[in-house]
This record gives sequence, C-alpha cells and structure tokens, in this order.
Amino acid sequence: MTKYGSFPGTRPRRLRTTPAMRRMVAETRLHPADLILPAFVREGISEPVAIGSMPGVFQHTRDTLKKAAVEALEAGVSGIMLFGVPEESKKDAAGTVGTDPDGILQLALRDVRSEVGDDLIVMSDLCLDEFTDHGHCGVLDSEGRVDNDATLERYAEMAQVQADAGAHVVGPSGMMDGQIGVVRDALDQVGHEDVSILAYTVKYSSAFFGPFREAVGSSLKGDRKTYQQDPANARESLRELALDLDEGADMVMVKPAGPYLDILAKVADAVDVPVAAYQISGEYAMIEAAAERGWIDRDKAIMESLTGIKRAGANMILTYWATEVARQL
Ligand code: PBG
Repeated sequence: MTKYGSFPGTRPRRLRTTPAMRRMVAETRLHPADLILPAFVREGISEPVAIGSMPGVFQHTRDTLKKAAVEALEAGVSGIMLFGVPEESKKDAAGTVGTDPDGILQLALRDVRSEVGDDLIVMSDLCLDEFTDHGHCGVLDSEGRVDNDATLERYAEMAQVQADAGAHVVGPSGMMDGQIGVVRDALDQVGHEDVSILAYTVKYSSAFFGPFREAVGSSLKGDRKTYQQDPANARESLRELALDLDEGADMVMVKPAGPYLDILAKVADAVDVPVAAYQISGEYAMIEAAAERGWIDRDKAIMESLTGIKRAGANMILTYWATEVARQL
C-alpha cells in the first residue's frame, strides 16, 4: 500500500523497458516494400528544378527521373507514381498534352519503364489538372463548371495512352463520378486487361495540397470543392469506396493521410483489396519546415508519421521520403 492506495498489479511499462523489448512487442513495422515514391518530371528543362515549398523534392528532367527511379528500386521501394509538368504554352482547356502519346508524362512513363522493367511498379497519376490551362481536374462546361461526363471521355483516352506508354498501374485522381468504371472499360477495350487501377477513392479538398501546386506549376485559381470531398464528412468515403470497388478498382487510396487517419482506418476495415494512403505535399512540407527551424526532430517525425499511417491500416504509403526512408529501414 502507498499512502494513497495500492500498488498496481499490472504494469504496462514492463514491455517498454528497453529498445529490445519495445522492438519485440512492436505491432507495426515499416518495410521498404510498403513505400511508393511520387515523382515529378518537367518538360523543357536541362537540370532538375528544386521545389521551394518541398525542400529535397525536385521537378526532374527525363534523365534525372530515370535515376530517381533506379535509386528507389535499389532502396527497395515498391513503386513510383509519376506526375508530368508540361511547358506552360502547351496547356489548353482540354488538357490535350495529357493524352498526347508524346506528352511529357507518356515520355516519362516509357523512359522509366524501359529502365526498371517489371522490377519497380510504374504508376501514373490519371488526371487533367497538370495539363489544363485552367488547372481543374476535368474539362469545363459553358458555364465554367467541371463537366463530369465530358471529363470521363478524356480519362478513358488518358488511361489508354498511359497504359500504352508502359504504366503497370493507373491512378485516376480526379474524383469524377464513374471514373473507375470508364477507365476499366477503356483499358479492357484495347487489350490492357493486365493494367491495374489504384483508385484515388477518398480524396478530400485539402489545404495540404498547397505545395503540390508549385510542384506541378498548377494554373488553378479557386478550389476543387465541387468534386473533392468535404473534410467534414466521413460517411461519403464509404460510399465512394463501394462505388469504386463495384466499378473495378484493384486497390484504393485515402488522401491526404495524416489528417484523415480515422477515414483510413474505416476504409481498411471495410475492404478486401489493398489500401494505399498518400502522405501529401503539405504533410511533407510541414515536417521539413518545422525541422528546418529546429522545432522537431526531422527523422523521428518522419518515421512517426509513416508508422501512424501504417498503423491506421495502410498497406502502401505514397511518400516523398520513400527512397530515403527505405534506405534507413
Ligand atoms: C491530381 C493530384 C493532386 C495530388 C495528387 N494528384 C492535386 C490535387 O488534387 O489538388 C496532390 C499530391 C500532393 O499534394 O502531394 N493530379
């Protein structure tokens, strides 16, 4: 007895006594194979261009992108997700370069695929925002609203050219209704039955996408609130999930990751397909910025953020730190 009551009979602290003990009882372990590297390739540059709001991340040339892919592979990363940044003058209302077989993203897909073969999973973001002069993820109607069904036609074509260029996986990320079904049909029609779909199933209209705008030189004014989800809502994520699975998604994604771990956990509980989470540009920038000021321990914060995402239920994590972290593991 103490002066105030009895001593505890159960002591959870016993299992926290030493690094070896903590290691043995850890429930969540990160593995390089959990990780996927998102990467940007920009047309018309001869040296990589640093992205100011994402220290350590670059817009790659076609050559340095190939190197980044090989480095990721050698570090044990599972896949690479490619984003194309065309020359400003090539953007138009329909995002034509997004479906041009010689558009920057398709060229990069070919480059990377020929470099890594089937050893690294080559994925492509399937969306129009990098290629449109208005910066929206779809084409607009006469009143300037994003036209769902006209956009689906563009996505169908995009899926075909990306698969032709060597994508193992396409990642429709525009949040148009029906996009997974249309992409599946389009791929199957031209003999790409083996190309899989990683659906950006749950995608919130998030302020944390901010640095990405710089990363892809986005032309967007305004926001994506009429197609991306409202951060206030959880239930519609399960509805989006049911629709995407029904339409043929092979894998599903929750994005952003950190601020939406509750949603990630719900999705992971509900499905029988692999679940990815995307630790997005703003999540990256916050940790880098705070670390730069000496306010947090960078490496520990990175590991903790990734462990949290995995613990919440992600099988795969897209993170700009993929190669660095894979090397440390
Ligand atoms: C759409 C797309 C976006 C991101 C990935 N795919 C931007 C958006 O939806 O606004 C964001 C990724 C990040 O912020 O790291 N092409």
